[in-house]
Amino acid sequence: MAPALIETPVQIAPGYTKSGVGQYKEAFITGPKTYKEDVELKGTDKQPPAKYPHYLPTWTEKKYPPLEPFEHYEHGKDADRAFPNLLKNATVAELTGNIGAEIKGVQLSELNNAGKDELALFVAQKKVVAFRDQNFADIPIEDAVKLGGYFGRHHIHPISGAPAGFPEVHLVHRGADDTTARDFFDERTNSVSIHSDVTYENQPPGTTFLYILDGPAAGGDTLFVNQAAAYQRLSPEFRRRLHGLQAVHSAVEQASNSQTKGGIVRREPVQSIHPVVRTHPATGEKALFVNPQFTRRIVGYKKEESDFLLNFLYDHIAKGHDIQARVKWAAGTVVVWDNRVTAHSALLDWDDGTRRHLARITPQGERPYETPFEG
Ligand SMILES: [Fe+2]
Repeated sequence: MAPALIETPVQIAPGYTKSGVGQYKEAFITGPKTYKEDVELKGTDKQPPAKYPHYLPTWTEKKYPPLEPFEHYEHGKDADRAFPNLLKNATVAELTGNIGAEIKGVQLSELNNAGKDELALFVAQKKVVAFRDQNFADIPIEDAVKLGGYFGRHHIHPISGAPAGFPEVHLVHRGADDTTARDFFDERTNSVSIHSDVTYENQPPGTTFLYILDGPAAGGDTLFVNQAAAYQRLSPEFRRRLHGLQAVHSAVEQASNSQTKGGIVRREPVQSIHPVVRTHPATGEKALFVNPQFTRRIVGYKKEESDFLLNFLYDHIAKGHDIQARVKWAAGTVVVWDNRVTAHSALLDWDDGTRRHLARITPQGERPYETPFEG
């Protein structure tokens, strides 16, 4: 692994408050104060009970210590580049010309280790892959967790609810008859909040799994951006300027937002400093690594300078519909993305109270590093 840029994340003192900077926007935080377990288990007049009750969220008061550094092993580096294990029975359809694929004919839960290595590399190349007709949601949670653990140490999310006994499973849950969509749009014009997951961690996630348990027939797609293509679209001179820059990523606003909404904070929020351009350990690709949810400022720049540059990059990423793909969910779908070279956004575009319930398994990767500008 390349040398570390910094040795430890920046620790935030307890009693954190909003920093007043950045563009943190979150429509999807739920917590114990708004959760209605009886409604989820029994359903309502309009909505059926949850299909996967053992995956419903629970919140405990347990506090977790700061994350310790660990040595990540990138299995994508060991993959056979012809993908003989992963794709031998697969039907692959590209989603767009430069990001995303949809695969049928592969059962993720049955991959051998060589197949898992190929999965890591294939996802790094495609950026995001939707695997259809999976049994992932139906196998025991411990088996899903075990599979994910092959790709890195499990991240335990600082604020999310989790299935009882499985804190490393991050839940995205919007309950039956939930009114968040209507409430949110009282205040905001859109729900798009592009980010890579938990980039405030010193070692953010790599190969990441999200699978659907319950959801609307239409609505709730997930939008993905190819951050390597976003980097390549910039001129050589502009790219050259980005190299060597570092940015602060912060968990403070997310934790503060959770507290405000009656949620939990399982681990004290941290900040980390990461390169603005990072290199993927298996493909060698360079990718932009900033996002408006968690990136706060460019190290060494004055506020106006930092805002100017970051806002340009955020616009570039958000407007690049020609480097983006939308994944439509269906029962049995598992979406795997490489969080190092993509950004994504949930889309809150249904308001009929249909439950949406997904689970994420989030193996952490290496500390982001950059390699020299190559023109
Ligand atoms: Fe996310």
